[in-house]
Order: sequence, then structure tokens, then C-alpha cells
Amino acid sequence: MQRFYITTPIYYVNDAPHIGHAYTTLACDALARFMRLDGRAVHFLTGTDEHGQKVEKAARDGGSEPQDFTDKVSQNFRDLARELDISNDDFIRTTEARHKACCSELWRRMAAGTAPNGESNIYLGKYAGWYAVRDEAFYGEDELTTGPDGRKRAPSGAEVEWVEEPSYFFRLSAWQDWLLDYYSTINPDFIGPNTRRNEVLSFVKQGLTDLSISRTTFSWGIPVPGDPKHIMYVWLDALSNYVSALGWPANEGDPAGLFAKFWPADLHMVGKDIVRFHTVYWPAFLKAAGLEPPRRVFAHGWWTVEGQKMSKSLGNAVKPAAMIAKYGLDPVRYFLLREVPFGQDGDFSQAAMVRRINTDLANDLGNLGQRVLSFIQKNGGAVVPQPGAFTPEDRRLLDATTALMPVLRHELGQMQAFNRALEAIFAVVADANRYVDVQAPWTLRKTDPARMATVLYVLADTIRRVAILLQPFMPQSMAKLLDQLAVPPGPGRDFARLEQALVPGTALPPPAGVFPRYQEAAT
Ligand code: MSP
Repeated sequence: MQRFYITTPIYYVNDAPHIGHAYTTLACDALARFMRLDGRAVHFLTGTDEHGQKVEKAARDGGSEPQDFTDKVSQNFRDLARELDISNDDFIRTTEARHKACCSELWRRMAAGTAPNGESNIYLGKYAGWYAVRDEAFYGEDELTTGPDGRKRAPSGAEVEWVEEPSYFFRLSAWQDWLLDYYSTINPDFIGPNTRRNEVLSFVKQGLTDLSISRTTFSWGIPVPGDPKHIMYVWLDALSNYVSALGWPANEGDPAGLFAKFWPADLHMVGKDIVRFHTVYWPAFLKAAGLEPPRRVFAHGWWTVEGQKMSKSLGNAVKPAAMIAKYGLDPVRYFLLREVPFGQDGDFSQAAMVRRINTDLANDLGNLGQRVLSFIQKNGGAVVPQPGAFTPEDRRLLDATTALMPVLRHELGQMQAFNRALEAIFAVVADANRYVDVQAPWTLRKTDPARMATVLYVLADTIRRVAILLQPFMPQSMAKLLDQLAVPPGPGRDFARLEQALVPGTALPPPAGVFPRYQEAAT
């Protein structure tokens, strides 16, 4: 069986979950569900990033010990996953023992290995330079700007501070040629979309400097093996989650273990702000430790809200729970993945959300289901109709759904183009609505009942196919629609059964609308 390992970034627990976090997780969930329905063995991981200076500071500012603080706030991200109906197989916290053991071993392996230039991968030195706690990242002087307040800031807008302390370094500079080779020759599909790939390539071509990978001025983290005054750089700690959650190193060599089954990861989904960590540092760390690099990293864009950046100070962060309460879970899931080409930035506006709900979901898909199923209920004896021979128009509509499968495999599996996948499915929904108008079953009822039955059959089966294909995006609503078509939960809803049509004569329960129109409550 083909395997698929997909991961979200692990979330910093200092922030309350907002729609931006929900977005990454949701995209991964849609893909994980798609792959499962397509017959693959899937492992889908998410979790929380709990060490480092930023989290330690958030805990102390709130008067708590870091461990108590992280225990409490990590739960918010688990709750988010439940609110969004996320199908993750595991949830990792970097404060867990399994993770700490993995990080220590990864460090030891890196330290034991040599860089391509023959020197050791890790060496002790002194870091003197700029650090942004908000990004947990080091910056060169040339990357900074000075604001009107005289403070220096990183390109992300985060304030930087001068840090001078003993530090272990990773010999990243020596991995530059291997990285360029990896991007260009060994794995040209490593980074998506192309704009990000080009950015990373030019960053690496400019020349890499060695990376500071330990800190000594605070203590909330994993100690460096053999030198516990140092704690590991939080990004080395965090990135390791992708292998620690698979049970490495404990199950190394066990062919039935998760690591053997699922590493290297098929896809690390990340936001555009954390591409460098995943595409430069992470593959180099792994290679230095003698492990395989991941197969692909895809970076999506950022959401603004009503045209503005989401921020604590503006207090405009959109809370997923509030959106779900207002619009329903599946409409929110649909909107986020349909509205913006995945990879580009997008704006979350209530007006756009309502437009999508009322146009795509209520008018196009909802109405198709509702008018066909209630017509069958009233005029077709409330059973799956018995079709006669199919006309070319009938075949065209049925074939259109079958033809979607390779398109979806490409758009989702290879390109992570959620919007294009949804567009393709909804083009068939539009075809089906046109087919209803042209075939006019209400007229056939009087003139040609046998033909009416065929038309209704073709429509019911098209709705079944569309509902099966939309399950990854809107699992709960599509389950309801498939219930109304009397398709039992389980393997009958897998992609492999797309062409195994409805059985004439099967009793159909009374239909109920799946997507109500959204109307602003009168004030
Ligand atoms: N802890 C690190 C990731 C470590 S992975 C080994 C981190 N955490 S984060 O909580 O700050 O961000 C997690 C993800 O949320 C990132 O992919 C980031 O891009 C995404 N988003 C945060 N705000 C966002 C928006 N406003 N819009 C879209 N995604 C955003 O970085």
C-alpha cells in the first residue's frame, strides 16, 4: 500500500489559535483525508512547539512556570483540532519524553558525523549578533532596518536584540553545495510553490554562514548532550518533532515501525514565514545526522483580516470557534481552501465568506442536491430510480466526475492547489445544474416517465460522486448528503467505489437541505 506522511508546523503555545493556524492544519487535513480515501496508508501529525525564550517569557509574564503554562495552552491547539474536525493520527508536544530523547540523539549523530568538507558538523564558538525572540531567529546586520523609534527590526517586523554568548555552531556553510544539488538535481520538487523555491535558491546561492544551535542565557529547552549549560536552539528542537513522533530513534531498524513506514515525510506544510527553517536548516541537519531529507515542503500564504494584518495589538485575530458558530464548520473549511490560490496571501472578509456560502454552497451544490432529491422523493417513489439506456449527454455528465480523479490527484497530490481542485469539482456541479435545466425532468414526468427516471438516476449518481469527492473538504456535510443517497458509511464512500453506481430501487430517506443560505441576523 502506498504511504503518505503529512505534517503541520507545530504551533507556538504563546499565542491563542486563530484562523491562520487553522488554515495550515485544515489544508493538511483535506490532503490527509484525500489520500486515505484514495487508498493510501496515511500518517498525519500536528502538535505544539513549547520550548524556547518566547514561550518561557510568555509563561513568566503570566506568572506561571513554563511547564504549567505549556500544559494549559497546548490544550487550546488540541481543542482547535477537534473544533475543525481534524483527522490527525498523532499530536506531539516538544515537552514529551519521546521528543527529548529524539533531539538528544539527533544532536549526537550530527556531532559524530562530518560535514562534506571533512570538518566536524558541530563546533563550540561564541555567538555575537542579532536575535529576534518573536521569530526565534538569528539575523545578519544587513537584514535589519531601523525604525523611527531607533529600534532595529528583522524583515518580519520583529524587534531584535544583541546577543553575545558561548554557543555551539552547526557547519551549515559546508552543506551549501549539497543543498543546491538537492534542490536542483536530486529533488527538484522539494519546494513549492515556485516563487518560494526561487527565493530559497537565491538565499542559499548567496552563501550560507554557520548556524548557532545552542543558547546559554535561559534554560527552558532541551540540554545539549554532554554540555547541559547549553540548551538546544529551539528550531533544531522543533524541527525534530517530525521524526520523534515516528518513534525515532527507538524503532530504528524495525521494518514494522512508524519510522521505517513513514520517513521521509511526503509533505511538510508550512507558512511562508518559516520556509527557510524547513528547506535549508532541516534537510542539512538530517543529512548531517545520516537521515533522509523530507520529500517536499509547501509554503502557503498569509491571511489578513478585512485588509489588515492579524495582530494581538489590533485585537483583530479571527477566532475559528466564532467563525464556526456563525457560519458552520464545513462552510469555513470550504471558504479557506477555495477563496485564495493556495500559496498566495488572502484576505478574510465576512462579505467574501457570505458570498461563497450563498453562491457555491447554497445555490450551486445545495440546490442541486435539494431539488433532485426532493423531486425523487415526490415523483420517483422515494427510491433510486431505474434508468434506461444512457444518452451521450448522460454519459458526458457521468464521465465528467470520473475524469476528475486524475485532475484531483495532480492538483492536490502534486501541486497542493486546493482552490483549483475545488474549482474543478464545482465545474461539474455547474454542469449538473445545466443538465437539470436542459433535461427538465418536471416536463418529462408528463411526457416520458421512463426518460425522467433515467435523468433522475444520472443526477442522483452524479451527486453521489461529487459528494464522495468533496469529503476531504467538507466531511460532515458530505456524510449527510451520502446518507440521503443511502450510501452506507465505510468503503462504499472511498474513491475506489466512485464508479460503482447507485442501486435502483434502494429506498431513499426524506432529504434535508445541507447548506442553508446565510442571512445576516436582523438587528
Ligand atoms: N513553532 C513554529 C513552527 C515550528 S515547525 C517545526 C511556528 N509556529 S507559529 O505558531 O508561529 O506558526 C505556525 C504556522 O501558522 C506557520 O505555518 C504560520 O505561517 C501559520 N500562520 C500564523 N499566522 C498566519 C496567518 N495570519 N495566515 C496564515 N498562516 C499563518 O512558526
